[in-house]
Amino acid sequence: MKLEKCLTEENLNQNLLNIQYAVRGPILQRALQIERELVKGVPKRFKRVVRANCGDCHALGQKPITFIRQVLALVSFPELISSRLDIPQDVKDRAKELLDDCTKGSVGSYSPSNGLNLVRSRVAQYITNRDGVPSNPDDIYLGSGASDVIKSVLTLFVEDVGGKPPAVMVPIPQYPLFSGTLSELGVRQVDYYLDEEHDWALQISELERSWRDASIESNVRALVVINPGNPTGQVLTRDNIEQIIKFAYERNLFILADEVYQENIVSKPFHSFKKVMFEMGAPYSRMELASFLTTSKGYAAECGLRSGYVELLHLQPSVQKTFNTMRSVMQCPSVLGQCILDCVMKPPSPGKPSHNQFINEIRDIHQVLKERTATAYKTFNSIPGYFCNPIDGSMFAYPRIEIPVEAQLEAKKLNMSPDEFYCLRLLEETGVCVIPGTGFGQLPGSFHFRTTILHPKDEFQYMMDSIRRFHLNFMQLYP
Ligand SMILES: Cc1ncc(COP(=O)(O)O)c(C=O)c1O
Repeated sequence: MKLEKCLTEENLNQNLLNIQYAVRGPILQRALQIERELVKGVPKRFKRVVRANCGDCHALGQKPITFIRQVLALVSFPELISSRLDIPQDVKDRAKELLDDCTKGSVGSYSPSNGLNLVRSRVAQYITNRDGVPSNPDDIYLGSGASDVIKSVLTLFVEDVGGKPPAVMVPIPQYPLFSGTLSELGVRQVDYYLDEEHDWALQISELERSWRDASIESNVRALVVINPGNPTGQVLTRDNIEQIIKFAYERNLFILADEVYQENIVSKPFHSFKKVMFEMGAPYSRMELASFLTTSKGYAAECGLRSGYVELLHLQPSVQKTFNTMRSVMQCPSVLGQCILDCVMKPPSPGKPSHNQFINEIRDIHQVLKERTATAYKTFNSIPGYFCNPIDGSMFAYPRIEIPVEAQLEAKKLNMSPDEFYCLRLLEETGVCVIPGTGFGQLPGSFHFRTTILHPKDEFQYMMDSIRRFHLNFMQLYP
């Protein structure tokens, strides 16, 4: 008898077929293939691929923070605490504190599903210091990266209301974790466009338009805001946040504030949604809110170790109980990841042995961000046919590019969008791997790509020069 597959494309969870995640999509796949071709000696016009597809700072050469890695080493192998190695006392103290909170003193045992008590209380203290508003450790849930807890929170909305399917408002351009997760959950995505002509501002009139249009056929239940923006790099003003909160209040929307780049800001002040809501007073200070942070970003940038948190505010107690149960099914997030979060929430204090080195390391990281954002902005705006808004935060540039009609027709013949075609040509001719705007969203008829900007200086300059050279050639080819 012929063995038939139980699981086929036809009977698979059909939502999964709609998931797209361009950051690791076809352009990256081609880049990886080119890397293999280069190893085999296939002749190319370039010697190496420059990966600029993903906001993964360590992959671009950023060094880990010494304090964090020392604490990780000690919690992983506690014998080091009493060894003769020259390890700062505050590292030893931190490792002991963390191990005391782990069952049987091992990071190999499960933690409570919302995270170690010690780490959640440190997160609450960090938020309290940041906002001047008390935070309760019981409202904090640690996750394996922010993606993990963002998905859990979005899952709460998978239910028709008033006979209409649920929908969630998402900025365009957006980070495709949101579109991908909503596709997976079968929840409608309601796009609202950021205003590129005004530094990617979030206009309330556009929120109203998108909410009105979507409300005809769906029940819009939540609003996602990414501040600082990915891929757009803008930092919202306090006034703007206040308007957004009022908008959400008037329509009874749950706010998801993705604030993962709050430590990656160059010049403007960061205002958390929580702080602004509390400063506005009642009734806004009683609204439901989920705000997210991760150790994949900021100075730690420990993407591979997977850790982050959500603070959930003002949930109905039975909803929060359900959330607790849902999170407990997965046991707990990585305990090593939780230890990193602890270090980020409570870095070495002044006067402690690790403090000076820590301060120097984060100052250098911040300096690199400052330089690269300025260089990317200047360089892109100096290329004819390019436009780039100032980059206030995050670790990306998202320039707009003019793509000639001839090139657009060529792309169509190849069944590609013009920006995909552009990025693929850029990759094939220079080895620079950036992600087309189609993966993040853009106004129809406009074309962009997203590039990370935190490469080492020479590599970054090489990438900028390669992009400029490529574009000038491209414009000659398709005048
Ligand atoms: C805006 C935004 N939110 C969330 C995440 C998720 O990060 P992680 O799951 O690594 O914590 C990212 C990662 O790039 C991001 O850019």
